[in-house]
Amino acid sequence: MRITMIGSGYVGLVSGACFSDFGHDVICVDKDAGKIAALEAGKMPIFEPGLDTLVAANVAAGRLKFTTDLKAAVAGADAVFIAVGTPSRRGDGHADLTYVFAATREIAEAIDGPVVIVTKSTVPVGTGDKVEEILKELAGDFPIAVVSNPEFLREGAAIGDFKRPDRIVIGTEDARAQQVMRDVYRPLYLNESPILFTGRRTSELIKYAANAFLATKITFINEIADLCEAVGANVQDVSRGIGLDNRIGSKFLHAGPGYGGSCFPKDTLALLKTAEDYETPVRIVEAVVQVNDTRKRAMGRKVITALGGDAKGKTVAVLGLTFKPNTDDMRDAPSLAIVQSLLDAGAAVRAHDPEGMEIAKGMMPEIAYCHDAYEAAAGADAVVIVTEWDIYRALDLKRLAGTMAAPVMVDLRNVYRASDVEKAGFAYSSIGR
Ligand code: UDX
Repeated sequence: MRITMIGSGYVGLVSGACFSDFGHDVICVDKDAGKIAALEAGKMPIFEPGLDTLVAANVAAGRLKFTTDLKAAVAGADAVFIAVGTPSRRGDGHADLTYVFAATREIAEAIDGPVVIVTKSTVPVGTGDKVEEILKELAGDFPIAVVSNPEFLREGAAIGDFKRPDRIVIGTEDARAQQVMRDVYRPLYLNESPILFTGRRTSELIKYAANAFLATKITFINEIADLCEAVGANVQDVSRGIGLDNRIGSKFLHAGPGYGGSCFPKDTLALLKTAEDYETPVRIVEAVVQVNDTRKRAMGRKVITALGGDAKGKTVAVLGLTFKPNTDDMRDAPSLAIVQSLLDAGAAVRAHDPEGMEIAKGMMPEIAYCHDAYEAAAGADAVVIVTEWDIYRALDLKRLAGTMAAPVMVDLRNVYRASDVEKAGFAYSSIGR
């Protein structure tokens, strides 16, 4: 099959590389000539474990190419995937579809035969209908089908998620398009990964409902964690105790500083906007968004409490800045709100992150960036674990405590056992324990 991927960002690049690894001929398109040149030179624009070697192998095999020339890339393709960004629109929280529609218009002008157009970007219900309208208006009389095929991959585990998905969702009632999509996903189909064919609007909604449900699950356990602290219970045991019930399931029950990232915050907001447009409120998601926002700021207050109630003139070491480990993504990271509240309270912040510091420097220029956890903690009044990178799981706690002005640890990811940290001389607080 010939597959064209419009947009070489996170989803486009991972999907394109994985499709080429299935044996398809894939061409990834991006407007950013610098990004395309870097990709051609083997440099990845994002940090994602395994992506560089996957790209290199498929480029070497001649199955994966990069270009800025959308027109040439679309000509002759069996399937064209739209994987451009759909950020929150400034001011109102709606998904901004400017890039999706711009790509659609360009694709329309380049179509030269029967083709299936697939929206892989996360798009609100009804976007497929609009894409179809634009194509019908601008493209010639070729048979064109528009399919919704949302992506469920997690950053940091994207390649594994793509190749061993829990399910593939394909939204189209067009028989020819269904067959093209079966061919596109043939290796997974043969592996008996569940493939769910639905209507297009249903498929679009599945993506938002999945992310909103996961965000709800996290937010639920975060509130239970607060209750655990109040009543003297242990949230990790509560998670295990409820998660072993198959109807609940144990995943996404890790209490923490609140969810962040490129998907949950923007997709929950966009779902609320759709609900508003159709005058069908989803109140539980309204509460989730509000609780999660409040929580990120509350985490700053938790650190200040651990400092004895006053952060003025104190130094705080922040370990982990990205919204989760194994990524350099800083979008909506809880660290942003936590650092801001510490700065507002008059503290100085010294930070370390294995992959996120380059991007973080642009977003938080007023803090100090250190080579490792020990340098960050040197002379600090408290150390805060914000993101659970593996290198923070086995710190030499005695050494860490020895470098600090006052050994106080706030563990927002429950990485450590209280007894171990306290043995090293720390005053320790964590989440829901
Ligand atoms: C998410 C979805 O999981 C994925 O299916 C979708 O395609 C994109 O959005 P991602 O944002 O990469 O993926 O990360 P994920 O692992 O889901 O974590 C999201 C946020 O939730 C992180 O901030 C993480 O720290 C937090 N989280 C996750 C928790 O606080 N507790 C948990 O138990 C799980």
